Amino acid sequence: MKTFSALASLAVLVGYVSARTVFSQIAVNSVDQGQGVAIRVPSSNSPITDVTSNNLICNTNFLQPVSDVVATVPAGAAITAQFHHTSAGYVGPDPSDPLDPTNKGPVLAYLAKVPDATQSTVTGLSWTKIFQDGLDSATGQWGSDRLFLNKGNVTFTIPSCIESGQYLLRVESISLLQATSYPGAQFFMSCAQIEITGGGSATPAGVSFPGAYKSTDPSIVTNVFELSSYTPPGPAVFKC
Ligand SMILES: *[C@@H]1O[C@H](CO)[C@@H](O)[C@H](O)[C@H]1NC(C)=O
Repeated sequence: MKTFSALASLAVLVGYVSARTVFSQIAVNSVDQGQGVAIRVPSSNSPITDVTSNNLICNTNFLQPVSDVVATVPAGAAITAQFHHTSAGYVGPDPSDPLDPTNKGPVLAYLAKVPDATQSTVTGLSWTKIFQDGLDSATGQWGSDRLFLNKGNVTFTIPSCIESGQYLLRVESISLLQATSYPGAQFFMSCAQIEITGGGSATPAGVSFPGAYKSTDPSIVTNVFELSSYTPPGPAVFKC
């Protein structure tokens, strides 16, 4: 507890520390698709902090040209989303790569079915949560800690029963270091463009962005140093 409160006062002294991380690459069943390929990579690693903003959907100010690749992903495949300190991906040793390790918080992934994964419209979609990694109460380790230890890699499975077709895959890292009041939590996300093949018949219900997160959610306004358990924001994770 002593360490926790010392860290908490340090965070207050330092002020606006930022996790500053960008999801810019995916691997499908361990096959890397290439830096920025099939991803709308934001040019800045600045956080989104307004949960009512359309920028919370897939971020904003993308590196140009935006990839026109749609990555083929067999249903049931393992996706490794790769986060790094800046939009450039991994560029060499950096103590804040993939993020500043003092920034604790969850890592989440969502899918939204779209007519065309390269379409620029991202509003009005229905997002299904397929993965979340919050706080392990037994070890005190966060999803962000596992992301740091795995050098920016987070791996999860595309549901094997989900309907085939084109999807946006939204992968998000949230820093709760400044989250004691709103706005304070920092949201870092990008959207990958994928085509799921060989899927089943599931068309799971989804939530909307913005909308799924509220400025009053206890998962978004919280003191990370005083938590013994934590439920990430948004709906339950869809399981086949
Ligand atoms: C991250 O995942 C990619 C793709 O599977 C792999 O090439 C890379 O070696 C992984 N990095 C680490 C540090 O495990």
